[in-house]
Amino acid sequence: MASQLFRCKDIDQLISDSENPEKRLKKTLGWITLTALGIGAIIGTGIFVLTGTAAAGESVEYPSILKAPVLDVLLHGAHATGMSGRPGAGPAIALSFFLVAVVCGFAGLCYAELASMIPIAGSAYTYTYATLGELVAWIIGWDLILEYAVSNMAVAVGFSAYIDSLLETFGVHLPVALSTPAYSPATGWALHFNLIGFLIVMLLTVLLVLGIRESAGANSIMVAIKLVAIFLFIVFASKYIKPVNWHPFMPNGWQGVLTGGAIVFFSYIGFDSVSTAAEECKNPKRDLPLGIMASLFVCATLYVGVAVVLTGIQPYQIFKGDAAPVATALHNIGLGRLQQWVTVGALMGMISSLLVYQLGQARVWFAMSRDGLLPGAFSKVHKRFRTPHVATWVAGIFVGIPAGIFDIGTLADLSNIGTLFAFLLVAIAVLILRKSQPDRPRSFRVPLVPFIPSLSIATCLLLMASLTLENWIRFFVWLAIGLVIYFLYSRKRSALAVPTPQ
Ligand code: ALA
Repeated sequence: MASQLFRCKDIDQLISDSENPEKRLKKTLGWITLTALGIGAIIGTGIFVLTGTAAAGESVEYPSILKAPVLDVLLHGAHATGMSGRPGAGPAIALSFFLVAVVCGFAGLCYAELASMIPIAGSAYTYTYATLGELVAWIIGWDLILEYAVSNMAVAVGFSAYIDSLLETFGVHLPVALSTPAYSPATGWALHFNLIGFLIVMLLTVLLVLGIRESAGANSIMVAIKLVAIFLFIVFASKYIKPVNWHPFMPNGWQGVLTGGAIVFFSYIGFDSVSTAAEECKNPKRDLPLGIMASLFVCATLYVGVAVVLTGIQPYQIFKGDAAPVATALHNIGLGRLQQWVTVGALMGMISSLLVYQLGQARVWFAMSRDGLLPGAFSKVHKRFRTPHVATWVAGIFVGIPAGIFDIGTLADLSNIGTLFAFLLVAIAVLILRKSQPDRPRSFRVPLVPFIPSLSIATCLLLMASLTLENWIRFFVWLAIGLVIYFLYSRKRSALAVPTPQ
């Protein structure tokens, strides 16, 4: 049994397969293209949606211990209930953005080492399968589905909020029952459905089934549009800054900065996708870490810029519960025309990020199915369009329906905990592999091992502890469902368990 759970794919086999001239991917990517890919994946909804609520916080008292950040529960036990609510970071949300970029930087170095050690197309799922065995690979794959799927649900909800705010500038008001989620933590359940969130995912699913591919060119245009939108905001809105809005800078001290960080962590999700292009890099040793770090650096600079300007032009308290803070701020300072441009740019950015993640997610379902861990239908390829159509539809429905039901905060928090957990496992994998396979060539090595991976583990845990207990429970329920599926279904059907006929 233990040998089954820890059976590994053979790394040398994987690498020699990838070098097979018939299957070899073209090695064309340099660090600049990688950086563009990274920025394309990172900037989606988070910066446009979560910055406001993370700065303002939630003033609701914790109605129960489930709504309290785990760190509070650990420090105060049952007394965590009834405290002052999720503290906002205030203008110090800019500091949260900076610190989270540092945490992601540590994780990025660990990703780069694993990716350069096993430069195979795929993601953390593939390299854990080759190194730590099937059970851990399953957990990571299941967790990646959570990261990709739930973050996309959240992006779709953010998209809907910005469409709403754009339509309002033209005097069009959508019915509340069709533009708000069925569940909101503040008001509970209602007979609502976020139709736009659902429709955008379905539309992109049809495109993906038909075979639309994000070529490097199209990606670069989308990245440029997003960057222009952010740049316009920073440049034009900065003229309206009133320094008085920055006081007090840290209204809730470090606790506010940390909790704010745990929320805006969402806006950095995606840099790990750079590592999936390892096999197509001209020089992975230099380009992978450079691409990961450069995309993080560019995004962190822009994010800190947006946070500084946003909290400078309006008092942060007004953003409480606002899903379109950038649009609101521009509207309030009377820059209606700029609001329309920035909103269109933000929407473009969200579409490209939705598309890339739906595509990536279908590929994870596809890969896990090809390995026998999920039903075979998921790895069917459409006869005419040559796309994994079943996996793409499953991913579309799996994301579209919850996008109509849940609010962005609930979804972003769940995706944050899933992603932080993946980062944690990747850092642990680096430490284990340095011991168990010290001689395997690594074209990139994390500096100062075990210090940096340990710091990565500690900082991820700190951010995870800043998320609510309710969120932890949802996450463990997700993992538990995954383990039940693994033990009842996948373990026996794994391609490694059933030898293929020669
Ligand atoms: N980082 C992505 C976003 O902010 C998920 O939308």
